Amino acid sequence: MRLGELITQDAEAALAALAWQLDCGVDEVVGDTALDRYALPEAVREAAPRPDAPRGQTVAEPARRAAQALANAPPPLAQGPDPVAVATEAAGRAATLSALQEALAAFDLCDLKRGARNTVFADGNPAARVLILGEAPGREEDLEGRPFVGRAGQLLDRMFAAIGLSRHSPDAEAALYITNVMPWRPPGNRDPEPAEIGMMRPFVERHIALVDPKVIVVMGNTPLFTLTGTRGIVRARGAWTQALGRPLLPMTHPAYLLRNPIAKREAWADLLALKARLTEKE
Ligand code: URA
Repeated sequence: MRLGELITQDAEAALAALAWQLDCGVDEVVGDTALDRYALPEAVREAAPRPDAPRGQTVAEPARRAAQALANAPPPLAQGPDPVAVATEAAGRAATLSALQEALAAFDLCDLKRGARNTVFADGNPAARVLILGEAPGREEDLEGRPFVGRAGQLLDRMFAAIGLSRHSPDAEAALYITNVMPWRPPGNRDPEPAEIGMMRPFVERHIALVDPKVIVVMGNTPLFTLTGTRGIVRARGAWTQALGRPLLPMTHPAYLLRNPIAKREAWADLLALKARLTEKE
């Protein structure tokens, strides 16, 4: 039940409910929609329960003042811009990879950006036939500003070296281009949320269009979901599909392979399938 409904129902019951919440340690009243707290009237800030209030003092009084101040508070802020629409517009305007990198660095509607040190854009050769799409930077990537440079990245480099591909190759035939769905490190390396993925998708799609690879390799569930709308990488791996009009090969993430070395055998089969695809006649 919302606070406003409680108040209108029965003032006594509302005050008792507020008093109970204060007893439970609630020290903030949060509504369904965002409030600009800098714009709140003095009365609201004043109404906050004081930590130094005498223990016996009735909690009903601060509760009553808080309820009153909230009732007088300015209306909630209007909804902000739609992040997906802003991302679509910004990505669509980028005619080159460096313009896209700038557009991404200027995109301020994803909260993950605030906790990240770097916007991790990409690494490798943009002329490569193979584009690898990962999930999100981890600690090392965030510090260095390049994708896949930690332990999982080193394994990725060894895996692709085994079929003659490298991010360092100047030769397009032997090169890799590596990027992630999310350019900012999520706190605690958690998975990016669907809303965060949704606002990155326009950038990812534009990124792929600008690199124009022959094949896309998605590593892990997040890029699989971003490009196909499905999850379940362990089942999906190794089965070629299509995304954005290109062949797409799902593979398990190298971090998963570090935790489950037994799965390297399947990853090797996937690498061989990729090699075979690349040697097919156009
Ligand atoms: N995992 C990813 O998916 N991407 C990185 O850049 C690093 C680890």
